[in-house]
Amino acid sequence: TVVVIDFGGQYNQLIARRIRDMQVYSELLTPTVSVEELRARNLKGIVFSGGPNSVFAPGAPTVTPEVYQLGVPILGICYGMQLLAKHFEAQVHRGLVREYGRSQLRLEPEPSVLFNGLPQQQSVWMSHTDAVQAVPPGFQCDARTDNGTIAAMSHRERQFYAVQYHPEVRHSEYGLDLLRNFLFEICGCSGDWTMDNLISESVSAIRQRVGGERALCAISGGVDSAVAAALVHRAIGEQLTAVFVDHGLLRKGESQQVMESLAGDLGVHVERIDARQRFLGQLTGVSDPEQKRKLIGTEFIRVFEEASERLGPFSFLVQGTLYTDIVESGTATAATIKSHHNVGGLPEDIRFELVEPLKELFKDEVRALGEKLGLPAALVHRQPFPGPGLAIRIIGDVDEEKLSLVRESDAILRDEIAKAGLDREIWQYFTVLTGNRSVGVMGDERTYGFTVAVRGVVSQDGMTADWARIPYDVLERISTRIVNEVPGINRVVYDITSKPPATIEWE
Ligand code: XMP
Repeated sequence: TVVVIDFGGQYNQLIARRIRDMQVYSELLTPTVSVEELRARNLKGIVFSGGPNSVFAPGAPTVTPEVYQLGVPILGICYGMQLLAKHFEAQVHRGLVREYGRSQLRLEPEPSVLFNGLPQQQSVWMSHTDAVQAVPPGFQCDARTDNGTIAAMSHRERQFYAVQYHPEVRHSEYGLDLLRNFLFEICGCSGDWTMDNLISESVSAIRQRVGGERALCAISGGVDSAVAAALVHRAIGEQLTAVFVDHGLLRKGESQQVMESLAGDLGVHVERIDARQRFLGQLTGVSDPEQKRKLIGTEFIRVFEEASERLGPFSFLVQGTLYTDIVESGTATAATIKSHHNVGGLPEDIRFELVEPLKELFKDEVRALGEKLGLPAALVHRQPFPGPGLAIRIIGDVDEEKLSLVRESDAILRDEIAKAGLDREIWQYFTVLTGNRSVGVMGDERTYGFTVAVRGVVSQDGMTADWARIPYDVLERISTRIVNEVPGINRVVYDITSKPPATIEWE
C-alpha cells in the first residue's frame, strides 16, 4: 500500500487514483491517522498531499512526528513539501511567492532518483504562496523554477522527497513519470495490484469483520448497491440477505434485470418486495416535486424496516457508499436545490454496524469490479438514475397510466441511443412526461395527447452539464417511434438547455 495523507487539496483523490492506475494499491487517509494504523498496512510509501492552508496557519493539519520514523519513503507534494520543510526546520518565505499555473522547471545537476529519465527542463503546474528558501540540513535541492524558487528537494539517505508542484495533474508534463519513479524506483512497489487482488483482499476483510453473523443489504437497482451485494455475497454467501424494494418507479425491465443477475446468476439471496401499490398510493394526487421525494424516501425506509424486522435479526448493514460519496457529503454546504440524496438513504439511528466495502473505490473501479464479479455490463454501466425514479420524470401528479407512458417512451429512447452507439458517450438520457397536452393529427383523426420531452446531457459529474448533440437522424427515429408506439403521446420535443441554468432532471 502507498498511503496518501489528505491535507485537503483539490487534487488529492487524483493522486490516489493515479497510483492505482499504476497497479499499486493506494488509500487516502486523514492526517490524524496513527502510526499503528499505518504499520498495520503493508506500507511501501507515503505521499503527503497538497492542501489549501499554509503549514504555518494556526491549526494547520499535520501528522504525528512518528511518521518520519517509520522508515518508509515519503513524497511531499506542495503542502506536503512545506510540511517536510517545516518539520526539518527549513527557511521558508511565507506568503511571499505567488506562483499559480504553469511554470518552467529546471533540474539541478544530479537530481534525485525521482527525476530519473526525465528531461532537464519541463513545464509543471504550480499553486502555492509559501516557498522554501533554503533546504533543511541533510536535504539537497533537486530543481528550481524559472524565478529561482526551490521546486524539489530530497533527503536521499532517509528517502524523503518533495516537490512544490502538482505531478498528478495533466498540466505537469512528466508528472506521471515522477510518480512512477517514486513507486517503483524508490518504494520498490511491485505493481501487481489488480481487481483480483482487490476482490480477494475485500473478501477476507469482510469475512473477518462479519464472522458468523448475518448481514442485510438494500438493493436499489443501481450499480453501487448491486456491486456491494455481489462482493459481500462472495465473502459470506448465505449470511447475506438482500432486500430489493420494488417501488415501481424503475425503468422498463430493470426490476427483472436486478433479480436475474443478482438472484439468478450470482445466487444472492434477494427478497424482492413488491411495494408498487404502496408507493403509488402514497403518490396519488401529489404534484410537488419535493413532496414526492419526501414521500418516496419515507416509504422506502418504512418498507425496508418492516422487511428487516421480518427477516432478521441482522448485525450488519451493507452499503454501497463510494469514495466520492464520502467526499461530497463531507463538503456539501450548497443550498438545497433538490433533496437529492434522500432516497435509499437510511435513518441515522440505524441499529446496525455498517459494512461499506466500496468506500475506497471510484465509480469506474466499482464498474470494473462489478464486471469481474459477474454482473452484466448493462447493469454495471448503467447511467445515473435518481432514487425517486420515474416519479420525478412525470411533471405533476403520478398515476399508473403516466408511469407507463414515461416508461415506454424511455425504453424506446434507450434502445435507439444504444443502436446509435451513443450509450456510453451521453451521461444521462431519458424522457420526461411534461404536463402539456396538445392537438395533433394521426391518420385523418384529431388527437389530443401528451408531449414528451427527450433530455440527453453530457457531464463529468452531474454538477454541470451540457445538452448532448444527438444527431438529427437519431432524434428523428426516436420521435417517430415514440409517437407511433406509445398511444397517448403525439408530440416529442428535445431539451436544449444546459445546467446551469436548468437542472438535469425536470423536477
Ligand atoms: P439535477 O436534476 O439536480 O441532477 O441536475 C443531478 C444528478 O442527480 C440526479 N438526481 C437525483 N438522484 N435522488 C437521487 O438519488 C434525487 O432525488 C435526484 N434528483 C436528481 C440526477 O439524475 C442527476 O444525475
